[in-house]
Amino acid sequence: MRILDQPVVIDGVRTAFGKAGEKGVFWKTRADDLAVAVAKALIQRNPKIKPNMIEDSIWGVTNQVKEQGGTLGRAVPMLAEWGWELPGCSIDRMCAGGLTAIGFGVGYIATGMADCLLTGGVEHMGHLPMGFMRDPHPRLQEVMGGPSAFNMGMTAENIHDRFPEFTREMADRYALLSQQKAHRAIQAGKMKQMIVPIEIEESDGSRVVIETDQQPRPDTNMKSLSGLKPAFRENGRVTAGNASGLNDGAAAVFLMSGKKAEVLGLEPKMRWVSSAVAAVDPTIMGTAPVPATLKALEKAGLAMDDLDIIEMNEAFAVQVLYCLDRLGLDADDPRVNIWGGSLAFGHPLAASGPRLVTFLMNLFKENGHARYGLTTMCVGRGQGYAMIWENMQTRDSAP
Ligand SMILES: CC(C)(COP(=O)(O)OP(=O)(O)OC[C@H]1O[C@@H](n2cnc3c(N)ncnc32)[C@H](O)[C@@H]1OP(=O)(O)O)[C@@H](O)C(=O)NCCC(=O)NCCS
Repeated sequence: MRILDQPVVIDGVRTAFGKAGEKGVFWKTRADDLAVAVAKALIQRNPKIKPNMIEDSIWGVTNQVKEQGGTLGRAVPMLAEWGWELPGCSIDRMCAGGLTAIGFGVGYIATGMADCLLTGGVEHMGHLPMGFMRDPHPRLQEVMGGPSAFNMGMTAENIHDRFPEFTREMADRYALLSQQKAHRAIQAGKMKQMIVPIEIEESDGSRVVIETDQQPRPDTNMKSLSGLKPAFRENGRVTAGNASGLNDGAAAVFLMSGKKAEVLGLEPKMRWVSSAVAAVDPTIMGTAPVPATLKALEKAGLAMDDLDIIEMNEAFAVQVLYCLDRLGLDADDPRVNIWGGSLAFGHPLAASGPRLVTFLMNLFKENGHARYGLTTMCVGRGQGYAMIWENMQTRDSAP
């Protein structure tokens, strides 16, 4: 592929992920404030980058109403007190909104349209629940293959139905593995390097700083998982334990052209290699990372074996099991979701893509031998998004 400049990642950060609802740590915090916090943190962590160098602020947001509406991407730099010269936009590809924001940013840089960009994703599922104020076309249900396509949990049940080789027991085992990996990573302090502390107001009016994820359940075990009732239909297999949660959070990534990074004397963390988006039957939306990944690999001239680190979003355990299997990987492949995934950390929709990119960036730092990495996720309405990256931190072959 002919590109005018090489898109690179300079840095990535996120908020802690809170549980949606009144018991959530961000219940009294606005979505746009979460986005502003990660944007400002990126500038603080990278003093060589000045806000006036940023040429666009591109944000993935699913529910673009109320505090997430009115072109949040444009509001973020102004709320960060960076003046009004910095443009911005919001885009929606549901769960992959933030990954698409990064993908669009990559396109800007590769075509020479910009060489310094703020990209991110935010979702406050407590204030703006899934489907809030949506008015789907009356024919959409029919063209999508029935009512189950509108309910993400039901699409996961559909995968269980159509591919019965992936059982409830396997889904629970995978969910347990994700929780265990996440717990180990948290205990080892891996999240500290990427979480921006946020001061919040508690229900009694006191103030406290939130810097740890609320969703992980280190006490998870197979007995408690297997005892959970199906969440989406009677006799189903998808439960609160093997589904991602409902969460609030934001994540952001600084993208730059290789040339600009060199001029500024910055050390890029990884370079973009290829991206692809694909679509499948919406009633089994969770299967779409497979065609997206295969397409991205083909564009890159790579094979699954070339990937050293794989960040696959965990919307539901069964869809991850399906995708890993069809991509030729075992459920416990050591390259996959090394620090756990959304089943443990939660999945604030559009924030999860930049979260995956931030995880990969930090995993590349710790795995100097690793060359290629994948970030991929499924999307409601039956889409998959995949991006392949190359490690630029290979000189530090730390353990
Ligand atoms: C599955 C879902 C409905 C559960 O919602 P919820 O009932 O509010 O979830 P909770 O966290 O309260 O958990 C429900 C119960 O399961 C238990 N539970 C959850 N995870 C558990 C775990 N890992 N181990 C043991 N128990 C667990 C909770 O303790 C709770 O039990 P309780 O009612 O006795 O307190 C919700 O998380 C959901 O809709 N997830 C999918 C989100 C989605 O579609 N995202 C888009 C993807 S494309």
